[in-house]
Amino acid sequence: MAATTTRTSAADFLPASRDLEVLAEAARSCRGCELYRDAEQTVFGAGPDRARMLLVGEQPGDREDRAGAPFVGPAGRLLDEALVAAQIDREHVYLTNVVKHFKFTRAEGSARRIHKTPSRTEVVSCRPWLFAELQAIEPDVVVLLGATAAKALLGNDFRLTQQRGEVLRAPDVDVDIVATIHPSAILRGSPDQRESALADLAADLRTAAGLLSDGDR
Ligand code: URA
Ligand code: SF4
Repeated sequence: MAATTTRTSAADFLPASRDLEVLAEAARSCRGCELYRDAEQTVFGAGPDRARMLLVGEQPGDREDRAGAPFVGPAGRLLDEALVAAQIDREHVYLTNVVKHFKFTRAEGSARRIHKTPSRTEVVSCRPWLFAELQAIEPDVVVLLGATAAKALLGNDFRLTQQRGEVLRAPDVDVDIVATIHPSAILRGSPDQRESALADLAADLRTAAGLLSDGDR
């Protein structure tokens, strides 16, 4: 009987190079988990390869899946507001996600694609791309947006509610880390708390920016 190999992780598709363009190209044909099947395309990170700050979300949304770029939909617009409030130039940061394909369900009889949180297995399968991006860029600070990103680097027991906004370190990466709320959580939250939640996000981004020299923001 012929031997069969089971591909279970992005690691099987990772090139040796740590050039961002080479990585992004390789990620286009990743089959490290099942999520590539239903999504339109891989959404790799975007931004300068010399960025001093790297921001990590959960996974692309509907708009990102269509556009092929991270944070270009409603969550991205809210993130933009927070970046402006924190005096961080979006052009200077590298934006990416822990999971590079959009995971969704469809409501019965509807064409609308509804975000579904990726499983721990999918996060672990896809994480090699994030580690490769970190190796390519070697940022001075990483901002983890939301619990999925936070747990991906800080461990499954990490509690965002207890440690958001603190400067942290993770076992596998030699970089300062700040974990904060995901802009999508603000969008889902109650409208009368939007302003204060956005201010809290901006404050955490400012904490992260405080770890950089002025010219790197
Ligand atoms: N939410 C994310 O976590 N990432 C995106 O790119 C868009 C929405
Ligand atoms: Fe590969 Fe990640 Fe897409 Fe899964 S989600 S197929 S591991 S790029």
